[in-house]
Parts: sequence; C-alpha cells; structure tokens
Amino acid sequence: MKITLFGCLLLLLMSSAAALAASPALPKGYGAWQKSERKVVTDKKSLFYGIHYMYADKKAIKGYQAGNKFPEGSRIVVEFFNIKENPAVDGPKNMVVLMQKDKRRTETGGWLFAGFGADGKPSGIDPVKNCFGCHQKDAAQQDFVISTIKDFKR
Ligand code: HEC
Repeated sequence: MKITLFGCLLLLLMSSAAALAASPALPKGYGAWQKSERKVVTDKKSLFYGIHYMYADKKAIKGYQAGNKFPEGSRIVVEFFNIKENPAVDGPKNMVVLMQKDKRRTETGGWLFAGFGADGKPSGIDPVKNCFGCHQKDAAQQDFVISTIKDFKR
C-alpha cells in the first residue's frame, strides 16, 4: 500500500488533535503541594458553593509570588466538600478541578481547565462553557487565576 505524504500529515494532525482533546488525569500527589486556607462559599448559585481548598505546585507558587504571572506547566487543583449543617465541619468531597498552564489552549487563556468527580475520574465538563467564563470575567488582568498569593499564606 502506498502511504502518501498527505495521509501522513493527516494522521499526524488527527493524533495531535486527539491528544489535545483527551481528558487529562488529575496529577498524583497534589495533596503534598502548598495548600490554601479553608474557603467557604455560601452562595448556592455558585459552582464553588461549599467548602474548598486549593493546592498549588512549585511553579504555580512562583506565579502567585510574581503577582499572578504563571510559568508554563503551573498546576493548581481545588478540592470541594459539601457544607454540613454545622459549617465548621467538612462534608463529603464532591468535586475536584484543575488548571494547568498550557500555551496550546488558546481558547481558554492558555490554561487547561478540567473537572473531576470526587473519585478523581474526569467529569466531562466543558471547559469553555463551564469554566472559562468566570475566570475571564474575574481575572483577565491576572492570568485568569482568581486567587492570589494571600490565599496561600497561613
Ligand atoms: C461561578 C464562577 C466560576 C466557574 C464557573 C468556575 N470557577 Fe474556578 N474559580 C472561581 C473562583 C471565584 C475562584 C477563586 C476561589 C478562591 O479564591 O477561593 C476559582 C478558582 C479556581 C481555581 C484555583 C485557581 C484560581 O483561579 O484561583 C481553579 C484551578 C479553578 N477555579 C478551576 C475551575 C475549573 C476547572 C472550572 C470548570 C469546571 C471552573 N474553575 C469554573 C470561579 C469559578
């Protein structure tokens, strides 16, 4: 069989598009990254309703320290927990989200956005429709990251 250059190029294009579209995995060991203070959001309309903690890797901490200018590869994870009747106590985990600086993701400000269930499996959430809007609205001037280094000082 004759394989044309065009065919090769097409295959190459398709496989790189697939790699870009594939859901990323939740980084292993993020629990050991620098952790934010405990945050409580009581607005039931917010996606962030409940209790959450943010985790930032070393690159992301550098980005926060530089006033929210993040180097390629920076990763920030947020873990969410239900609010119980007594809000001082965390309920069960209900969601995990990830932002990873990736210059190929031009549609979402050069960041990969991904959502996961409590079990760490991709939740198939659409990053453009369900994630980027708020980050663009609240943090276009700070590299689309809403939190700042203050959130990591305890
Ligand atoms: C309702 C608006 C809203 C939507 C929708 C939203 N976020 Fe956020 N996000 C926020 C706010 C507000 C914070 C800051 C939380 C804090 O400072 O405690 C935040 C923080 C984060 C952070 C920590 C870094 C930062 O920007 O402070 C990550 C990671 C994150 N969001 C990922 C996601 C992902 C992935 C999605 C889609 C599944 C998403 N977000 C959708 C409002 C939103």
